[in-house]
Amino acid sequence: MTSQTTRARRPRPNGVVLRAAAIAGAGLLAGGCDGPQSMLNPAGTEAERVAELFKVMLVGAVLIWAAVIGLAVYAAVVRPGAHPERHASALIVCGGALVPTVILGALLTYGLQLMPSLRAESDGLRVTVTGEQFWWRVRYTTPDGAEVTAANELRLPAGARVELLLDSPEVIHSLWVPAIAGKMDMVPGRTTRLVLEPTRPGLYRGVCAEFCGPSHALMAFAMEVMEPARFDEWLRREAGPATADAPEAGRRLFLAHGCGACHTVRGTEANGVVGPDLTRIGSRHTIAAGILENTQENRERFIAEPDAVKPGVRMPGFAMLPAPDVAAIASWLGDLR
Ligand code: CUA
Repeated sequence: MTSQTTRARRPRPNGVVLRAAAIAGAGLLAGGCDGPQSMLNPAGTEAERVAELFKVMLVGAVLIWAAVIGLAVYAAVVRPGAHPERHASALIVCGGALVPTVILGALLTYGLQLMPSLRAESDGLRVTVTGEQFWWRVRYTTPDGAEVTAANELRLPAGARVELLLDSPEVIHSLWVPAIAGKMDMVPGRTTRLVLEPTRPGLYRGVCAEFCGPSHALMAFAMEVMEPARFDEWLRREAGPATADAPEAGRRLFLAHGCGACHTVRGTEANGVVGPDLTRIGSRHTIAAGILENTQENRERFIAEPDAVKPGVRMPGFAMLPAPDVAAIASWLGDLR
């Protein structure tokens, strides 16, 4: 069989196949518009404005693109050949200066008038979030001044404006929950501010949006927007000491192996502040800052080999501990609610 007959028999992609591929591709792209981390499916007042701005800019960009392509097609296909110099000069003045100034000026004015509403005052609840290597330190300050420390998860009441104060001790991070609001950098040496107003209860995902080291892409968090009454109840519980029904062994081993030097578990002697507060880690949606499901297996894995899960993490590995000890500690942590 010659290579020519082989080529002749090979099926060519036809119109139907191409159309099916285009539809499948569009479906995949549209699927990316949904989900807990989508700015196109907003669940907060600020994200709604950002999505609106995106749509207006998109329409503006499509119109400009269509006009430019239309002119190119006109010049190349409809009327090829030289054009009178008078027409060319008019095109440069209009198309190069006048029209872009009007369109971009209108888009800029529209964008600027959205900004004051993004700097509004909060309703009293304040949350300080500090970007650590590679996790989030979270401190809630209630309107009556009480402070509650947590980590790697944000819970906020629906329908209230909450002020986030953002900082970082070492490198620049950026906090971004696309479904709730725009992003804000966390800059060493200064405190930045972001006011959020989540509108729809649900579970969303936030990420670090500024390269901060080897595990930048592994620095995320869950954000749960709750009904206000449920949030108040949760915050009240969160402020108290840890409660666990698990066997005492896990707590004893946690303290005996020195975990308390870096981690706080309120209600025990563990009061370290180097690593994340673990007081109610069992009730969190994820562990290791948004990257692992909160299961017994994953907790054991992180305790034994944190660097394998999250390169560059400060926590040393505890793979040298007997497996039953790791399991007991992981089980006790999972029970802290
Ligand atoms: Cu923290 Cu990127």
